Amino acid sequence: MLLNKKMISLTVDGKKIQIEEGATILEACEKAGSRVPTLCYDKRLLPYGACRLCIVEVEGSRAKFTTSCSTPAEEGMVVNTTSDDIIQRRKTILQLILLNHPLDCLICDKAGECKLQDLVYEYSVVDNPFRSRWQYIEFHIDHVSPFIERNTNRCILCGRCVRICDELTGTCEVSFIRRGIKTDIGTDFNRPLNCEFCGQCISTCPTGALSSKLFKYKARVWELKDTASICSYCSHGCTVIISSMENTVKRIEGDVDIGINEGNLCARGRFGFGYIHSEERLNTPLIKDRDIYRKVSWEEAIDFVVSRLKGIKENYGPDSIAGLASARLTNEELYLFQKFMRVGIGTNNIDHSLGYNGLLKGLKESFGLPSATNSIHEIRKSDVIFLIGTDPTASIPLIKQGINLALKRNNAKLLIANPFDIKLTKQAKVSVVYRPGTEVALLNAIAWVIINKKLMDESFISSSTLGFDDFSKHISKYTPEYAQEITGIDKEAIIELARLYATAKSATILVGSNLIYDDEKLAKQSANLALLTGNIGRENAGVCILLEKNNSQGALDMGVLPNFLPGYQNLTEPVIREKFEKLWGRPLPRNEGMNTELIFSQIEKDKIKALYILGEDVVRSYPGSYKIEELLSKVDLLVIHSLFMTETAKSAHVILPCASFAEKDGTYTSIERRVQLAKRAIEPVGQAKPDWEIISLVSSQLGYEMNYPTPKEIMEEITTAVPIYREISYEKLSPSGIQWPYRTKSNAQTEYLYADGFGENKAKFIPVEFEKLSELEKQNIEYPFILIPYNLFLHSGTLSTYVKELNDVAGESFILLNHKEADKLELEEEAEVIVRSRYNQIKTRLKLSWDVPLGVVLIPIHYKDGSQALLPPFYSEPKHRLCPVRIDKYEK
Ligand code: SF4
Ligand code: SF4
Ligand code: SF4
Ligand code: FES
Repeated sequence: MLLNKKMISLTVDGKKIQIEEGATILEACEKAGSRVPTLCYDKRLLPYGACRLCIVEVEGSRAKFTTSCSTPAEEGMVVNTTSDDIIQRRKTILQLILLNHPLDCLICDKAGECKLQDLVYEYSVVDNPFRSRWQYIEFHIDHVSPFIERNTNRCILCGRCVRICDELTGTCEVSFIRRGIKTDIGTDFNRPLNCEFCGQCISTCPTGALSSKLFKYKARVWELKDTASICSYCSHGCTVIISSMENTVKRIEGDVDIGINEGNLCARGRFGFGYIHSEERLNTPLIKDRDIYRKVSWEEAIDFVVSRLKGIKENYGPDSIAGLASARLTNEELYLFQKFMRVGIGTNNIDHSLGYNGLLKGLKESFGLPSATNSIHEIRKSDVIFLIGTDPTASIPLIKQGINLALKRNNAKLLIANPFDIKLTKQAKVSVVYRPGTEVALLNAIAWVIINKKLMDESFISSSTLGFDDFSKHISKYTPEYAQEITGIDKEAIIELARLYATAKSATILVGSNLIYDDEKLAKQSANLALLTGNIGRENAGVCILLEKNNSQGALDMGVLPNFLPGYQNLTEPVIREKFEKLWGRPLPRNEGMNTELIFSQIEKDKIKALYILGEDVVRSYPGSYKIEELLSKVDLLVIHSLFMTETAKSAHVILPCASFAEKDGTYTSIERRVQLAKRAIEPVGQAKPDWEIISLVSSQLGYEMNYPTPKEIMEEITTAVPIYREISYEKLSPSGIQWPYRTKSNAQTEYLYADGFGENKAKFIPVEFEKLSELEKQNIEYPFILIPYNLFLHSGTLSTYVKELNDVAGESFILLNHKEADKLELEEEAEVIVRSRYNQIKTRLKLSWDVPLGVVLIPIHYKDGSQALLPPFYSEPKHRLCPVRIDKYEK
């Protein structure tokens, strides 16, 4: 790509260099190895030129000094970065900054990494001739805002916090307030922060004006050991720098030079690490004796697990045992677990975190591979971004930052289709709110408009796809008028959505889970739209899936599935079976195994006798929690690897304490197929062990030897077993990772898929029929509201609910209702209410919003009394993620 850009030549401090046209003088200086001091510059932000510290001399220029951060480099320029004059001016700038700056480095958490402190030292600013004429102005310190302390006495008005909050997060929570010498950084009416608490403002602040309350007086920065790892929450795969001291994690930050997140993090990634040292962490193995857990040694716990598994296998056969893993484990652990289940136990009854497979399965059928098609960074360069059934602000906040950059720097258009308004709605070109459960009709109607208005890419369709004629016939009944009846969306808005999507130079679809009833259908429909318009197999387009867990993609890649071996290799193909049997040294079970839904329905029928769960809190996270608890009490053996005594762990016969992400090495694969290496920052807490070690111990004692000294050796086996991971190794991996498929020869990772077509097969149009949800037909006077499960930006699944600091802000479930509906029910904000579905009831608190449509309520998914406590059990047919509920005032 660089080759296409025009290069210019210039001289910096006597050194001749070449740089891309459009680069700044500062970038040219960096390239020449000349260090220029900066304070208001952050490479993530647009040039600003506020502090003037980066001045340099450009020979022949009319201005004697030029700010290098905001001036473009030009052909033939001769730049000097140091002279007595420059140094004196920089010193004067620092003296002016220090006029109203408290010299409280002794207690400032930034000391040791403060840019101002470093520069004052470097430029020997020992006196200040202006001070005698200055009356010190004291600013208000905000100790009240959650997570962030604002002490603007230390502020140098560089504007970086204001710009990052606007340019990247799009929140605009802080700005310059007041004027002249009293200018300050604050909120409207200088109230405490009430924002996304991403802490991006802290990350950019060059002084101690903005700091993390979690880190206050915890350590001096030079005492910290920094380790690069991967965030344990969502599937964006942000690189985090874990700073630890005395085997304790003290803070988590980003690094602008490492990882695809370029130093950016969200609130969960930055402030959500408290669970690592939570008092609730389990630190010894536990065995249940007459309903009471007793602490046991690892030997006793492993003996117990092995003897019980052996007994069940002998009495009922291997298929009476099932395994379920969390998609938060590393690739190495997930690979080992499925291997253990398949050849250690002898069953294909293995699956992972519920709810996201459908999206990827749908894409596999349409395009060939079960993964997002393009890279996350390409979203920034898309002309149109179409969000379907997802709220990135809550699910993957860094994707929201990418969208914000696309809107601001690329003039992109944002289209949104969702069952309620989201934060990004205000920035959308077109936003539609559909009746819950009707998205299939909407997307079919968009396809109808594209076909009937001849907006499709005919040459792409004929060269690269199959099934267009059948698809076209199928779609013919989904006119905008018909879709209007079903979805409640005005037909003109449907036509406009279709027109904007289809006529974009490049368009990206982002789809998510949770809000919809059938992910697989949605993925296929998104694929159909991309195929109709040729928005696939090229840059800045495609379909991107927003998955909840940090290794959802890896769990699929590693074959934690009942029907595929690692790398999506066919379980029934003789050549494949032979390869794995040779590699693993044992015969593979022949039949396809049970998925999560089937496993639970078979527990109900007494067919599954033992369940081995790695990290997953099924009771708290899966719809129908009231029923799941009951089912777990039915199995003869429930083994759990867990960090906490979760609702699920409470039913276990044996609990094996496992290590958190900070306590182990391993790799994770993000939603853009990026395999990233995470390093261990601290030793495991108490007696906890990494899951891969526990699996190896159990398997070896059960008779199937597993001897891996470290996860590196497991990855070596993965690269042999999994073709899409071939040629990836720990030596080549870094926290920034490699995107599969990867070819060492050309050192080429794959940024977007299908650039060379779809292999031997073409991509497929797959017709999807709209079906009315039977569950929603039960909406009536008695149950007048449709419940939609809802994601909160401070939580990710249930893991984050073990973080005290996040819970201090968002620690309880609630129900979100439209103001008008609350008036009708004569209920006020914060009222205690009972919410009932046909399945269960919860007591919770009412919150009001104009963003929730009439007849709909939202309840978060993360809490014990969350939406899953009201929904029908996840394994019942047909599948539903929505159900009607009623709200009554709680009477004491
Ligand atoms: S925490 Fe994030 S949203 Fe809040 S003020 Fe700082 S940058 Fe803005
Ligand atoms: S608070 Fe920090 S980032 Fe914001 S203007 Fe002041 S010094 Fe700059
Ligand atoms: S939760 Fe997701 S977006 Fe936030 S820091 Fe972690 S990986 Fe990044
Ligand atoms: S860094 Fe260039 S003006 Fe501040």
